[in-house]
Amino acid sequence: MSQRYAKITGWGKYVPARVVTNDDLAKIVDTSDEWITTRTGIRERRLRTENDTTATMSAAAGREALASAGISARDLDLIIVASSSPDYLLPSVASQVQDMLGASCGAFTLVAGCAGWVYALATANQFIIAGTYNRILVIGAEVISFALDWTDRTTCVLFGDAAAATVVEATDEPGGVLAIELGSDGSGAMALYVPDGGCVSPITQRTVDERRQYLRMNGPEVFKFAVRTLASSLKRTIYQAGLTPDDIDLYIPHQANARIIETAARQLRVPLDKFYINIDRYGNTSAASVPLAMVEAIEEGRLKEGDLVALCAFGAGLTWASVVMQMGTGEISPAHSLFSLGRARYLARRTSDALLDTAQAAMLPLYSFLYERRKKK
Ligand code: ACO
Repeated sequence: MSQRYAKITGWGKYVPARVVTNDDLAKIVDTSDEWITTRTGIRERRLRTENDTTATMSAAAGREALASAGISARDLDLIIVASSSPDYLLPSVASQVQDMLGASCGAFTLVAGCAGWVYALATANQFIIAGTYNRILVIGAEVISFALDWTDRTTCVLFGDAAAATVVEATDEPGGVLAIELGSDGSGAMALYVPDGGCVSPITQRTVDERRQYLRMNGPEVFKFAVRTLASSLKRTIYQAGLTPDDIDLYIPHQANARIIETAARQLRVPLDKFYINIDRYGNTSAASVPLAMVEAIEEGRLKEGDLVALCAFGAGLTWASVVMQMGTGEISPAHSLFSLGRARYLARRTSDALLDTAQAAMLPLYSFLYERRKKK
């Protein structure tokens, strides 16, 4: 069998019609547009309307992706839905989507917090390069608003609902997914979790009284994890693809906080305008965040055939995942060839970045100390 590659051939999105601004939220919790905008970059988010569920939103995004790929649901070999907010604990939301689309293939739900869709893309890539499947629908969808405590200003202002989908197809032309990194650090699980509703603490009256069915987050802890992870995982994955950060045409990071993205751009030493940002309009849509940004980047012409794109998401678990890929197919960057000038640049940059990473890691305890001291003042 000749070498196979996985490329994205179709894309689609569904965002609920209901727009909720920061000023709207200031009417229900003690917050302000100024606080939310300056601390997070979020101006508004979409929240589901009465008829939206994770399954219906997934199916709507999926239909658009299938149409743009020019294939029908019957052509699919597999459907993967990344979500932490399914319609039901059982059945898997992916099976509902398979039925709604009229597909006749396998379907499963993948849970990896906000990193879910990037995990799902990496999984689809493996099925394709192994020769098992040719056409896979990869969806990221969340109705995260149902899991939020709308009396808790530290979490409810951050999230939004959305779905986005991509068709991933097999090709024998070089391109598509070039490198992946999947990561998990379960020791940080309690930094972002829902206390009740699982087998450890089934729902009781106490759950409802203490609002334990809702998401709880140690924001500063997750912030530190994200800042540690985003640039370093991107860098490792870019190097694994035989590229340097400068070779990437567009970065599509998880849209959790604009400050996290700005820090990553500085750490990678690439201009911020190489990072696609739509957090201002949608907030953090968890597993839908990266595919939604990717779909909008394509729609706006920011991501074109042949472009090199680096994706990275992080979230509950704690988890993270990065993918470096080339849109469409075609000539891969010169850095890929073993004896090119690009390769020499890549090796020089990789060495200098490794030294910089070591210096930054050594400085981290000092930054944490200064942060805590500033907070105490
Ligand atoms: N409005 C006004 N004040 C607020 C609000 C709000 N909405 N939320 C918190 N504050 C207050 C706090 O109570 C605190 O007040 P205090 O100093 O009197 O105690 C003050 O603002 C500062 O709070 P911090 O939590 O230190 O604020 P910080 O600058 O860290 O920003 C934030 C908080 C935005 C949550 C940040 O920590 C963050 O973005 N964390 C990362 C979140 C994330 O990336 N999640 C991704 C994973 S999601 C997933 O997988 C489902």
